[in-house]
Amino acid sequence: MGITVLTVDDESHARQYISEFLTPLGYEVVGVGTLGEARTALNRLDPDVVLLDVNLPDGYGPNLLYETRDLPNRPMIILITAHGDIEMAVEAMKNGAFDFLTKPIQLKQLKQSIDRACEMVAMRRELWHLRETQRSSLQFIAGKSPEMQKVLTYAQRAASACVPVLITGETGTGKDVLAQFIHRNGPRANKPYIAINCAAIQNTVLESELFGYEAGAFTGAERRKHGLMEVADGGVLFLDEISSMPLDIQAKLLRAIEEKAFRRVGGTNLIHIDVHIVAASNRNLKSMIQEGEFRQDLYYRLKVVDLDLPPLRDRKEDIPELVGFFIRQYNAKLGMNVEEVSQPAMQALMSYRWPGNIRELSNAIERAMLFCDGQKIDMADLPADVIKTAQNE
Ligand SMILES: Nc1ncnc2c1ncn2[C@@H]1O[C@H](COP(=O)(O)OP(=O)(O)OP(=O)(O)O)[C@@H](O)[C@H]1O
Ligand SMILES: [Mg+2]
Repeated sequence: MGITVLTVDDESHARQYISEFLTPLGYEVVGVGTLGEARTALNRLDPDVVLLDVNLPDGYGPNLLYETRDLPNRPMIILITAHGDIEMAVEAMKNGAFDFLTKPIQLKQLKQSIDRACEMVAMRRELWHLRETQRSSLQFIAGKSPEMQKVLTYAQRAASACVPVLITGETGTGKDVLAQFIHRNGPRANKPYIAINCAAIQNTVLESELFGYEAGAFTGAERRKHGLMEVADGGVLFLDEISSMPLDIQAKLLRAIEEKAFRRVGGTNLIHIDVHIVAASNRNLKSMIQEGEFRQDLYYRLKVVDLDLPPLRDRKEDIPELVGFFIRQYNAKLGMNVEEVSQPAMQALMSYRWPGNIRELSNAIERAMLFCDGQKIDMADLPADVIKTAQNE
């Protein structure tokens, strides 16, 4: 799958030995003899795997572990140590080395180690691909209405500061899209974005989805499961429809947020985590607090920044921009070439009340594009409800 291996070793015959073994297996192998050359090659070639000797003419090999620490595409570094230097090997692993091999290199072990590194690289590429596809299909259109401009500014600030956010708004107003916008615009954009819909998951399962469990925690728990809290570590955890979360899990969540740590179901070990929590609700949490259905302390924890998405009927001036956005999106998706909306049709779109908000608008545009003549959306192409409102005006 196009893996580049960089060997860093001052002995040219050692480099050649590795190259002669790996090249026929399909790897691109590049060899350098100094740390300085290694740095240049790292920048230029973006290798996936680095085979790194410890003692190099111009410095100490493992220094590369520090230097590459924050690279988003940090290579898998396999350290080549002298036989018996366990201490250094342990130190290197702590500093993020992928593996270590002892000299003289056994080709079988080298192959095993590189195979495992390739699995990691493949997973990372897949993940990036998934993120990229999500990224391109999901755009947040703020529009010009002052309410939305305010939401956007606050969202941007909350994203950079990684403070908890509570997003409220009717169905279809863009709570999911806004949560992803916050992820993409914060320092954690290259870290996981994990969304969980609390309403779609049975209460009993929700706890173990969030916090995971240990083997033997309950019947059927055959082996340890990592909860989404752990999976989201370093990134953003989006708790959708948080109003559906039962009170006991709310208590456990609050504790996890406050202590930045939690225990798996049936576990005793504290697991430390660092997640940026974004929650959303389309029910009124304040009245739920009064009914005793939602914890007040959790509510205040979550709404450090609270973003209320206005219904579409209150920001009708944004409809033309949204319509344009959806037309471009569906042109690409459906391979069409729709260019405009007739004036009466746009008028109708702007006077309808949109109970399903932006989601309903998006569906209406997709439908209209399928019904229209291929270039212009006309009144007759719109859904019946929209036409009816226009006729009654
Ligand atoms: N600001 C926006 N920019 C672009 N598209 C948007 C925006 N807001 C919403 N959409 C579109 O509307 C659809 C619904 O949005 P979203 O799923 O975020 O709504 P929601 O508030 O989470 O609704 P629900 O409460 O039903 O879960 C999205 O798939 C997206 O296509
Ligand atoms: Mg949603």
